[in-house]
This record gives sequence, C-alpha cells and structure tokens, in this order.
Amino acid sequence: MIKISPSVLACDLSRLLEEVRSIESGGADMVHLDVMDGVFVTNISFGIPVIQSLRKNTDMFFDVHLMIAHPERYIERFILAGADMLTFHLEASDDPDATLSMIKSMGKKAGISIKPATPAESVFPLLDKCDMVLVMTVEPGYGGQKLIAETLQKVSDLRAEIQRRNLDVDIQVDGGITAENAPDAIAAGANILVAGSSVFKAENRKAAIDSLRGKSDFP
Ligand code: DX5
Ligand code: ZN
Repeated sequence: MIKISPSVLACDLSRLLEEVRSIESGGADMVHLDVMDGVFVTNISFGIPVIQSLRKNTDMFFDVHLMIAHPERYIERFILAGADMLTFHLEASDDPDATLSMIKSMGKKAGISIKPATPAESVFPLLDKCDMVLVMTVEPGYGGQKLIAETLQKVSDLRAEIQRRNLDVDIQVDGGITAENAPDAIAAGANILVAGSSVFKAENRKAAIDSLRGKSDFP
C-alpha cells in the first residue's frame, strides 16, 4: 500500500495544528516533520519544542526527517518529544549503524536518508537494520524544488536489493513529488511519498492526497 506523508514545511506554520488536522481528515498516513539545523543544510526550520507541543494535540504518526549534523546527539530527545519514526542522513552521521540501533532500542522506527549524489549502494550494508530508506529526490534544505529524475534509478536499485535479500524495508521519496511524477516514483519501488507543496498549496487536501495515491476524483 502506498502511504502519503505530507511535509508541514509547506503549510501555514502559524496554524500548524489546524494544518495537521486538515491532512489527517484528508487521509494522510503520517505527518512529515523536517528538522533543519543550518549546518547540515543551509536552512533552519523547527525542532524539539514544536514537535513536543504538536504531540500533545494529535495522535498522528510522526515521521521526523532530521537534516542535522551528528544526529546521534539528539536521537533520545526527539523520541521523547514524540517521534514515531526517526530518519537521519547517512552523510551526517558519525556511526550510522549505532544510530540505527539507538533508535530501535527505544522502540521506534528507524530510517536512513541519502542525498541525490550519494549512491544507493552506500546503504546496502545497513538494510538489515533499518525500517526505511529515504531517497532524497531534491537537494535537502528547501521545499518547492523540482524532482531530480535521475534519483529514481536509485529507488529501483534499492528496491531490487531489498527484494533480492527478502527484507521488509520501506522506501520513501522526498522532494518535488507531485501527482504527475508520483506514478514514476511508485513504479521505481517507492511506497511512502512525502509531499509538501503539492498537498499544502492545494485548496482541497483530500483531493491532493488522493491524487498522489493515484486515486482520481471520480470513481
Ligand atoms: C526538503 C524536505 C522536504 C520538503 C518537501 O529538504 O526534506 O520534505 O519539505 O517539500 P516539497 O514537496 O515542496 O518538495
Ligand atoms: Zn523531508
């Protein structure tokens, strides 16, 4: 089943809770929370206090995407703040294997992410330990960019390796995902689609989420 994880980076952050409720009632499977530190990426977004406050007001599944340097320093705090799944960048971590173990030992789902220039093969040795691989389809740091088509080849390569080893690992794509290119990402092997602009800039969130899933407005 295809899951949709709208990124609140593209929402009206002054109305964060209402925006999250709009995607919940629109049928989103989870909410994608982009944490940026101004070091690993040049942008700064939001962090632990925001996630903690939101956690008190919704039961939605929190898909937290850490774009921060040395993520191991903050794993415990993000989990205590309410993350259900924590994804960190391979490029940012001092010891990805240990970081995955840290997340799993706290009973949460663990994801590892790669930037467009990082080869798919670099996460092959970690596939046994993770629940999800996030293949960035744009350079991390900003919403509203255009999908880099070549990144979908990495999704195919990863899906083939996951199948070959008979593993149960989700593949998430993030960046520039629209109803037009979602079928290509799904065909390549992605099963969780992150979408910021294409959901939150749409008037009708349910229709936007449905069309990402491939459901048309008309039955
Ligand atoms: C980019 C973030 C994405 C971004 C997606 O660094 O990781 O989650 O918000 O936004 P869109 O869908 O607008 O590209
Ligand atoms: Zn993201």
